[in-house]
Amino acid sequence: MRDSFDREIHYLRVSLTDRCNFRCVYCMPEKGVVFHPHAHHLSDEELLRVIRIMSTLGFDRVRLTGGEPTVRPNLVPIVEAIAAMPNIKEIAMTTNALRLEKIAEPLARAGLNRVNISIDTLDAERFTKITRFGKLEAVWRGILAAERAGLTPIKLNSVIVRGYNEQDIIDLARLTLEHAWDMRFIEMMPLGSIADFQVESIVTADEMKARVQDAFGELLPLEWNGHDPARPYRLQGGQGTLGFISSVSAPFCEGCDRVRLTSDGRLRLCLLRDDEVELLQPIRDGASDAELRELIARGVYNKPWGHGLGDNIIAESRIMSQIGG
Ligand code: 5AD
Ligand code: SF4
Repeated sequence: MRDSFDREIHYLRVSLTDRCNFRCVYCMPEKGVVFHPHAHHLSDEELLRVIRIMSTLGFDRVRLTGGEPTVRPNLVPIVEAIAAMPNIKEIAMTTNALRLEKIAEPLARAGLNRVNISIDTLDAERFTKITRFGKLEAVWRGILAAERAGLTPIKLNSVIVRGYNEQDIIDLARLTLEHAWDMRFIEMMPLGSIADFQVESIVTADEMKARVQDAFGELLPLEWNGHDPARPYRLQGGQGTLGFISSVSAPFCEGCDRVRLTSDGRLRLCLLRDDEVELLQPIRDGASDAELRELIARGVYNKPWGHGLGDNIIAESRIMSQIGG
């Protein structure tokens, strides 16, 4: 499917739940998060129906996100059902890895291809500070379990937050010397009720890259596919790759190829804009496949161009855990 700017949109990110077993400072407020009631979530059947309809519109890559996708009941059968859809070429998942030690293997068997894992520091104390609940050791075991299960190439995501983990970039980058992992450093994006904190504590991609180059010398640029939000680099002698995601300081909207489905059944057309297409209600009102297909196709066609951060427009209707990054 092409949108009105002639971008090819074929990548669907599916938020399976707005709940999470961590409370990362850059994603959720510490207290007072209101979760969508379960009755307002797409059921497994409704969710799979929307994905199936979208696969007939040309969506061929699916990423499962949350909140934390592994807290959704029936995750393994959901993956199996998506993998069985004829047009789907790839299923990935973005996770905090806490539960991966237990479920990496069954997920791989169900047809999950690979995972992106959030890890913001290798220091146990700072890890707990930034995730508020997280234990680094369990996450590390989750990463190794994912690798053993063949959920590769392993991608690691770090959101860098001033005063929390900017010094950890060096140790995280060093991981790519020994492991064939793709390490991606992400600029914190402002969304919803914690936008003020996010704006104040941002570390730009340029600063992150400068810190890595100060420690390791000039980075070797690698070939870029034009769609991945991060241009890839390698450290001298490294096995894995490094990337810097500059969503705020240097947006990359011309290569955008994705839309998002929220767990409460809306199609979110741009991460940083509040434009959404309501699907849950039409589904429950008995819309036919053809009607849903039409609603979705019209929404995707009208996908907006560019976030409004430069004009101080901050999307307010959701926090990141309600969208899935
Ligand atoms: N800015 C950028 N990325 C974020 N994530 C969560 N909150 C933010 C934010 N404010 C990313 C994390 C995680 C994924 C689910 O979303 O990297 O890996
Ligand atoms: Fe949970 Fe991921 Fe958000 Fe952290 S970033 S609170 S692990 S959804």
